[in-house]
Amino acid sequence: MNSAPPSHLSPQRSGGAAQTKRLIRRRYAQLAVRDSLHPDPRTNALAAGCPADWYDALPSRAALAFSGCGWPAASLDPSGLQTVVDLGCGGGLDTRFLAERLEANAQVIALDLTPETLSRARETLIGVVGASARLLAADMEKLPLADGCADATIANAALNLATDKPAAFAEIVRVLRPGGRLVAADLVRVGPLPAEIQANPMAMAASLGGVMEEADLRGALEGAGLTDIVITDHRPFGPVIAVNITASRRA
Ligand SMILES: C[S@@+](CC[C@H](N)C(=O)[O-])C[C@H]1O[C@@H](n2cnc3c(N)ncnc32)[C@H](O)[C@@H]1O
Repeated sequence: MNSAPPSHLSPQRSGGAAQTKRLIRRRYAQLAVRDSLHPDPRTNALAAGCPADWYDALPSRAALAFSGCGWPAASLDPSGLQTVVDLGCGGGLDTRFLAERLEANAQVIALDLTPETLSRARETLIGVVGASARLLAADMEKLPLADGCADATIANAALNLATDKPAAFAEIVRVLRPGGRLVAADLVRVGPLPAEIQANPMAMAASLGGVMEEADLRGALEGAGLTDIVITDHRPFGPVIAVNITASRRA
């Protein structure tokens, strides 16, 4: 019997997980030091669901820091939340939005694999009044956080970059308290990726190579122990589809 995991869950797609993570770090380090992480940041952010009035009131450099594919914070009721973990926080716009909405004694733990994106997030958070934000260099596949410490986890365009999806999803479940919520924006694909994308070693780092079919993504989230999984708001996003995902750890 072949007990190897299906290829869409494999930690070794092309060149090994460590090499892929090096490419991811290099790509996001290069993006984070640019003025704008996206060629048309306002259009991208508003199409993703970011409220225009909030976006337009941002300090100019913070407004250029978005590289998400949705606005998962809209699915999260901030009342009563003590700790929210932002996985793959990038330039920190979701972190800022949440920190402004949580109570003053709450915290957002914003973590990212790429140190340069954390520096950028630090800039994005300048002047925030609200909850505290703690920035952490960490891998979502091995979180340096205690079991059950989070009321919610949020991830914007980051889950597809996990080289070992079962490990990342298991970590989400481990750090959520019973009944805690995952809200995410991510990408799904219909059928196999085009051959030229599959053959490109940079595809994983460019948020394409690690994109799963929706049924496989749902199955992997369920397999990790998440429940009440809802995948909505499908919208074309380059050659793939952006979606919103909500799920819970069993109470
Ligand atoms: C497409 S960006 C999105 C950033 C941010 N969430 C946003 O919406 O602007 C993905 C981020 O995930 C980070 N990342 C990739 N793999 C990661 C991992 N295994 N653990 C933590 N962060 C990771 C990257 O460094 C990058 O900053």
